[in-house]
Amino acid sequence: MTSSTLLFSPVEADLQLLTDNLKRLVGARHPILYAAAEHLFRVKGKRVRPAVVLLISRSTMPNQEITPKHRRLAEITEMIHTASLVHDDVVDESEIRRGVPTVHSLFTNRVAVLAGDFLFAQSSWYLANLDNLEVVKLLSEVIMDLAEGEIQQGLHKFDDELSIEAYLEKSYYKTASLIANSSKAAAIISGASPEVAQDMYQYGRHLGLAFQIVDDILDFTSVTESLGKPACSDLKSGNLTAPTLYALEEKPGLEPLIQRELAQEGDLEEAIKLIKDSHGIEKSRELAALNGKMAVEYLQCLPDCDSRQALINLADYVLSRLY
Ligand code: IPE
Ligand code: IPE
Ligand code: MG
Ligand code: MG
Repeated sequence: MTSSTLLFSPVEADLQLLTDNLKRLVGARHPILYAAAEHLFRVKGKRVRPAVVLLISRSTMPNQEITPKHRRLAEITEMIHTASLVHDDVVDESEIRRGVPTVHSLFTNRVAVLAGDFLFAQSSWYLANLDNLEVVKLLSEVIMDLAEGEIQQGLHKFDDELSIEAYLEKSYYKTASLIANSSKAAAIISGASPEVAQDMYQYGRHLGLAFQIVDDILDFTSVTESLGKPACSDLKSGNLTAPTLYALEEKPGLEPLIQRELAQEGDLEEAIKLIKDSHGIEKSRELAALNGKMAVEYLQCLPDCDSRQALINLADYVLSRLY
């Protein structure tokens, strides 16, 4: 059993059902594009987002009993996430995802763009069928935010003046918005008060930021085999993340390398060495830990139950990925 399996135990049966349903939902419409995205659903990811939705759903319902709408919301959330990965891998020209070849590398960019569009469109359709306008608004904003995040990232390639605040804003759009808004939507479907719904939003926002910062650290410290996607790829493609931004504050030698876009032989290796020699990774870890801690503070409004405990443990799990 992986640590995440133990962690998600209050919703493990729900997640199994979700995996089966996702294949069925996506397969129902378009066989050709299904073939393109299918392998991504077959080799399932960590399922952090649907687990959060299901755990919040259970925590906010009497007797922790969830409804078919909660399940559908969790499915939609994973569908939107997977669509964003298919597009992200085209933008990043990434060859591996979840340990298997990416859609664009197996087929073509054209097929991958269409497959991602298809998943976004399908998620919108299932979303509309939840018949809850407030939830439709929250999740459609997420789809806008994902595009905004990719655009912001693209505009700031090799921008050595990027601030930590701008990096966090981009990370909100790319990653935290989906977790925050789907968390809030789960509470709304449960009929929770606006205050509880807002606290769930804040939990998801901080957890999402911690998750992205950790992903950005792992890009430096981990290897492709354990990530299931290429390591050391952010800096190479000009995507300056927390470790680099902090390192720029203390290593003057890093700036010229980034300004010339790591174009000369050995630049990338030199830049990575400077970053690893700096306090960049440590400071990034502190920033992630701070967000994990803030996330947990927003769980106080929930009743004491297994699912709430799992949400608390999830914040630790996100950080434990670094060790
Ligand atoms: C990858 O998300 C994209 C980021 C926001 C860092 P995950 O790390 O949750 O990917 P899967 O779903 O487990 O493959
Ligand atoms: C998050 O950013 C990706 C999306 C939200 C689409 P990354 O670019 O860091 O994701 P990975 O590292 O490719 O999974
Ligand atoms: Mg990427
Ligand atoms: Mg990454």
